[in-house]
Amino acid sequence: MNSLQLVQKTINGQAAADPVLRPRRTRISSALRSMVRETTLSPADFIYPLFVRHGRGERRPIGSMPGQCQLSVDELVREADSIMELGIPAVLLFGIPAEKNWCGSDNFSPHGVVPEAIRALKEAAPELIVISDMCFCEYTDHGHCGVINTPLVDSYNAALPEGYLLNDPTLELLGRASVVHADAGADIIAPSAMVDGMVGAIRGALDEAGLAHVPILSYAAKYASSFYGPFREAAESPPSFGDRSQYQMDPANRREALREVALDVAEGADMIMVKPALPYLDVLAAVREEFRLPTAAYQVSGEYAMLHAAAANGWLDLKKCALESLTSIKRAGADMILTYFAKDAAVWLAEEG
Ligand code: PBG
Repeated sequence: MNSLQLVQKTINGQAAADPVLRPRRTRISSALRSMVRETTLSPADFIYPLFVRHGRGERRPIGSMPGQCQLSVDELVREADSIMELGIPAVLLFGIPAEKNWCGSDNFSPHGVVPEAIRALKEAAPELIVISDMCFCEYTDHGHCGVINTPLVDSYNAALPEGYLLNDPTLELLGRASVVHADAGADIIAPSAMVDGMVGAIRGALDEAGLAHVPILSYAAKYASSFYGPFREAAESPPSFGDRSQYQMDPANRREALREVALDVAEGADMIMVKPALPYLDVLAAVREEFRLPTAAYQVSGEYAMLHAAAANGWLDLKKCALESLTSIKRAGADMILTYFAKDAAVWLAEEG
């Protein structure tokens, strides 16, 4: 019997008494498994998200995200060395301002918490790539990602519901803040507000300010996900009313993600992102297949917290499950992974040799 007949026989449901095709041959030893491995994880794949707050000497643990802290700028700078030593090329910054207001002005003030952090990091560790998360939800008193429609704002639009996120006034602020962050030295601007035209508006603002060399990593397909739960505590940014489903994507949609990415690519995105990661691997794979840009995936706070919670109960092995999740995200097509496990995973990978 040749091997084709044998496969046929197996498919027909009969036991193959003497299989010729034995995939297990390449699994017999660790060395052989390693030789045929299709996906390998490296610290160079990771981008480490960090939370920066005002103050000095502050390291405030984030209860919902074990091992992660809000850091003051001086502490953030101290982190930079260990991040680089582990081989992690980049960090992503979120800011927790001293004061929040209707338009999130800390985000576009040159002395806002993130611009200060960017300057300090670039001075202390010029090689470390600093990515600025460009959104307003951490900076506004209502916790939404831009300007909200109320009769109190100049851009009030009576044709739209109160509480609606005003698209175009938000674009203007995103452009302004991006210029401030890039001026402070941000290597990459990463808009995450999911308002229409954000990439084009930011590209235009940067170019006009003589910052045409600064790339944009767009949160192109960002879903209105409940897996962001723990982040709300980390960034102190829960919406004071409603949720984000008027601007972030419906978790049920995949074709729409391709459309969102196509628009951002047309507007000038240099890199694209899918977020969250593990529950959206099908979207990630489809985006990777369709577009030829560097593609990132964001393993979000809830993905991180779930693994920690299960491990704390003794139900899962944290290291093994974290590395398996990260490998799956890479296998699905991520060139870069934003992950709170970045430092731990870099240590674990080094241990494994
Ligand atoms: C800002 C932003 C959020 C996250 C990243 N950027 C919160 C949100 O959109 O609600 C979530 C990150 C995480 O959960 O780890 N818009």
